[in-house]
Amino acid sequence: MSSGENFIQALKVISERVDRALDHWLPQPSLPTSGRLNEAVRYSALAGGKRIRPALCLMIAENNGAQSEAALRAGCAFELIHAYSLIHDDLPAMDDDDYRRGKPTNHKVFGEAIAILAGDSLLTLAFEWFAGLSHYGVSAANTVEIVRLAAQAAGHAGMVGGQMLDLTYERRETDLATLETIHRQKTGALIKAPMQTGAILAGLQPDDCRIIEDYAAKIGLLFQIRDDLLDVEGDLAQLGKQAGRDAALGKTTFPGLLGLQAAQDYARRTLEEAHELALKLSRPMPMLTEMADYIYYRQK
Ligand code: IPE
Ligand code: IPE
Ligand code: MG
Ligand code: MG
Ligand code: MG
Repeated sequence: MSSGENFIQALKVISERVDRALDHWLPQPSLPTSGRLNEAVRYSALAGGKRIRPALCLMIAENNGAQSEAALRAGCAFELIHAYSLIHDDLPAMDDDDYRRGKPTNHKVFGEAIAILAGDSLLTLAFEWFAGLSHYGVSAANTVEIVRLAAQAAGHAGMVGGQMLDLTYERRETDLATLETIHRQKTGALIKAPMQTGAILAGLQPDDCRIIEDYAAKIGLLFQIRDDLLDVEGDLAQLGKQAGRDAALGKTTFPGLLGLQAAQDYARRTLEEAHELALKLSRPMPMLTEMADYIYYRQK
């Protein structure tokens, strides 16, 4: 097997672990109260997805000797925040999308009110899990630091703030610096935080933590450039979500601002910068190079 195939296999193993853990840990729909809410929560959190965010947390933690169960729990909590962000992103008041991961969006199945509550429920449950990391052998100080990082990445200075900018700049002229800020906040923040968490759980040295943060910023940007390109190049069958939505909504995107070829070149340069950063770590982590490749070449 080539190293790329090995990496895809490793990612598959991690996503199966994440699916099993979420299935086990999420509230059951059979509970007498909130049954429909729990169904909506499970519908989105167990709908598949690439599981990139928990994979990043787990790969960094486990490759540096951290306790697996804590990394799995934290990685899953980030996936809950991600699932919530997607449910709300798809609402009629935001991107108004009908399909996600090849299935009707949460509000199409459960209605808008339950979709909003399912998102709220996922976000708060994530913080219950982060705060409970001390029961998985994580020190109190590290637990608090992870809670802080996750809150910062999810909130007004991270994903929520980025979503606000994304809406603000619909059908408006903008420049590259603003576009990068939007992408850094709405997508990059929730890619960086699981990596920082993996680094904390593994007790990495400050120099390596800084390199990981810089690398995370690059792959976060790369991730959203690819997302923008796939919206132009892909289709519903390939992506599991409707294509062409960014243009229809007048979103500020890389291909929209720079043109297709320049956006592809920008992605390539960002990939190379991520590779260079991964090589600077004091202890090599080849999976970081492979993760950057995976994000660059991904077709969905
Ligand atoms: C989609 O994220 C939303 C963005 C931040 C661009 P992913 O492409 O990671 O979605 P799933 O989890 O694999 O469905
Ligand atoms: C969403 O960006 C980022 C989030 C915070 C959810 P997009 O709106 O481009 O994501 P998709 O294309 O709907 O998955
Ligand atoms: Mg959006
Ligand atoms: Mg969207
Ligand atoms: Mg998109």
